[in-house]
Amino acid sequence: MSSSIRSAEKLRLVDRFARTINYVRLSVTDRCDLRCVYCMPEKMTFVPRTQLLTLEEMETVARSFIDLGVDKIRITGGEPLVRRNIMQLFNRLGEIEALKDLTLTTNGTQLEKYAKQLKSAGVTRINVSLDTLRPGLFHEMTRVGDLKRTLDGIDAAIACDFKKIKINAVVLKNHNHEEVLDLVKYCVDHGIDISFIEEMPLGENTHHERAAAYYSSDQILEDLEQHYDLVPSTMHTAGPTRYFRLNEHENTRVGFISPHSHNFCESCNRVRVTAEGRLLLCLGQEHSVDLRHVIRANPENRAALDQAIIDAMDIKPKGHDFNLNSQTILLRHMNMTGG
Ligand code: 5AD
Ligand code: SF4
Repeated sequence: MSSSIRSAEKLRLVDRFARTINYVRLSVTDRCDLRCVYCMPEKMTFVPRTQLLTLEEMETVARSFIDLGVDKIRITGGEPLVRRNIMQLFNRLGEIEALKDLTLTTNGTQLEKYAKQLKSAGVTRINVSLDTLRPGLFHEMTRVGDLKRTLDGIDAAIACDFKKIKINAVVLKNHNHEEVLDLVKYCVDHGIDISFIEEMPLGENTHHERAAAYYSSDQILEDLEQHYDLVPSTMHTAGPTRYFRLNEHENTRVGFISPHSHNFCESCNRVRVTAEGRLLLCLGQEHSVDLRHVIRANPENRAALDQAIIDAMDIKPKGHDFNLNSQTILLRHMNMTGG
């Protein structure tokens, strides 16, 4: 039996655990101009360009999902803004009325150039990865990056008045863990949000031992509570983030994404599509469907693609399986997976 149900007004994607999927994270490239230590090895091998979906194929995938009830798409990477002609995709997706939320996750290095164009294309919200405000440590954690470029990019985005700008900070013990207060202060000063992310065990990591670099969200919360009055937000997104408001700083919310310490799978509303067109049903599991094959085997036939997506709901797993001490690690790096 297929998992899709036809409701009175429109199709919805529903999995075996009665979770409705209305959110897709679409990776447009596995390439990046940075080499963050938790994300990639220093010498990363990228997917040959011919194996990537074309921008047109990505639009086709997006349209299928939207017809099946998805109303939120996040463009991710790698670094999405290094994909050639990427504005073409933003412009096309921005025109689709049923798509309520078109968002972007970026490292900010190209935002000075693109912020205005993204805003006029219809991008609603932007997440910028920023783990530290110290230039030396930024260079160390990204292996090649220039902090100023990312900060200038964030300023450019702020000037464009997006609905929301959020910083994503991966916190590693003995790297940037002492900076959590400074990062929150930066966000308060700029009137933007921040989420702290526990490192996820994606891909082999030879840079640092993951268990030793583990710094829990609860520890960060404790650190922040020494200076800020954090009030749990009643706002529920279907996602994995727990949000807090800061008393006296109403323009900044602080979130925690904690795959280790808090299980978030029950309310999962999302799937991911890699730059090669692999539909991943869960960030922490390998269950996937090759949409590129479906598209290329059935040109001009959107029904086949729709059906492949509907059928995929039957293999969405109940939850992830992250374990810091586990011998088995997921082979995919985050840049393959699409943040
Ligand atoms: N664990 C947690 N977050 C990661 N990111 C990249 N790799 C990892 C990982 N192993 C984050 C980046 C960015 C988002 C796309 O994913 O910092 O914010
Ligand atoms: Fe690039 Fe983001 Fe990975 Fe850093 S975390 S290397 S910015 S894709």
